Amino acid sequence: MDNDLNKRGSWSSKFTFILVASGSAIGLGNIWRFPYLTGMNGGAAFVLIYLSAVFTIGLALLLAETSIGRAAKGAPVCAFKRLKPNSGWHLLGVAGVITCTVILSYYTVIAGWTLGYSFKALKGDFSKSLTTEMVKGMFASFSSNTGLIILLFFIFIFITVLIVAKGVSKGIEKTVKSLMPILLLILIYLVIKSVSAKGASEGLNFFLKPDFSKVTWDTVLLAITQAFFSLSVGIGIMLTYGSYLSKKESLVSAGFWIVSLDTIVALMAGLIIFPTLFAVPGMVPTEGPPLVFIVLPLVFSKIAGGAIFGFLFFLLLVVAALTSTISLLEVVVAYCVDTRKWARKKAAYIVGLFIIFIGIPSILSQGGSNFFSSLPVIKKPFLDVVDLIFGTYGYMFGALLITIFVGYVWGTNSAINEIEKCGRIFKLKRIWSFVIKWIMPLLLSVILIASFI
Ligand code: PFF
Repeated sequence: MDNDLNKRGSWSSKFTFILVASGSAIGLGNIWRFPYLTGMNGGAAFVLIYLSAVFTIGLALLLAETSIGRAAKGAPVCAFKRLKPNSGWHLLGVAGVITCTVILSYYTVIAGWTLGYSFKALKGDFSKSLTTEMVKGMFASFSSNTGLIILLFFIFIFITVLIVAKGVSKGIEKTVKSLMPILLLILIYLVIKSVSAKGASEGLNFFLKPDFSKVTWDTVLLAITQAFFSLSVGIGIMLTYGSYLSKKESLVSAGFWIVSLDTIVALMAGLIIFPTLFAVPGMVPTEGPPLVFIVLPLVFSKIAGGAIFGFLFFLLLVVAALTSTISLLEVVVAYCVDTRKWARKKAAYIVGLFIIFIGIPSILSQGGSNFFSSLPVIKKPFLDVVDLIFGTYGYMFGALLITIFVGYVWGTNSAINEIEKCGRIFKLKRIWSFVIKWIMPLLLSVILIASFI
């Protein structure tokens, strides 16, 4: 097995692990999904619930996943087999691999849009004077241009495959290490620009002053799902990344850093979007998913330096999405390498081709009036349906089963042993065990049942 472990590759340091895991966590979820959910759910009150969820159950689950991965030194399926042989728990790993595959197939569609919108910004499409009708028309004709969307999807997945095929240290580590500073620099620049713009205070109020009268059960459910989605926990990504981490490193401090960085970026995205949005009269934050693609181009067309601001904003989205698609693909490739014993390159290319194939219905479901944009009976676009099944319920089920596995099957003591490797002391182990054994299974079951009802 040792030989096997050496061949799998490993991160060069804890800093690298924090960077790549944060790269996975920081993505469209932070810059696209978090702001529109905040906008639709009353602003600061949603943000507060989200923050509480991230630093309690989000961090607890992240620790559970990374400890499984590092203890077993294997991708999801192989990891569960090693920790509980002949038990059927490896099926949870299989479910994780399937969920990552499906999420990647539609996440890349949106990632492709961000690439297309960066080109649009570069071409100066947002520097002319635009109206609401014009930006809506622009988005509708863009997203229903199937040929273009397939091309953008193809470019995005191809770049992801090239990076993952190169391996853990030469591919993923090297790329993410150079992309993350770019991401942070663009973020900081955009926050300074937007917070210091004239009329920013109304947006800041909306984002930072809570109004609890807007909070319902749905708000709480959404905030918790968003916390898991944003941290990339619940489907085996952090398990896989943890499996490449040395026993010398502290899982607790790494976890804390990852959660903090992910949260800071989500907050920064809010600080970019809301002050900019409220500074333009007549703009509302409740637009939902198109917030970033419809409202912001309109805003960019009305502010000084909007063209360059717009380009940098969409470039930021491209970089954030890429470090996340890399992690989604890595879970599937690691499964093929660890369990099926395929060569990494072969696995990356075959999985990439498969993703293109299964991504087509999601692409066709946006825009055009065809079968996939309004599925029979459900009457919803294919992309929305797979997002609901895999991106929402898949997550919640995954998270629930992982906590049951760690709490009752593998055992919190085994996890704590792993966390305390090399003489470390896990000060919060009692609270953490309690959260994993009692709070999370209960809370997640209630949420799942409530949302079904
Ligand atoms: N956590 C990342 C985000 O917030 O966009 C990316 C991500 C990875 C989302 C894995 C979903 C997922 F299943």
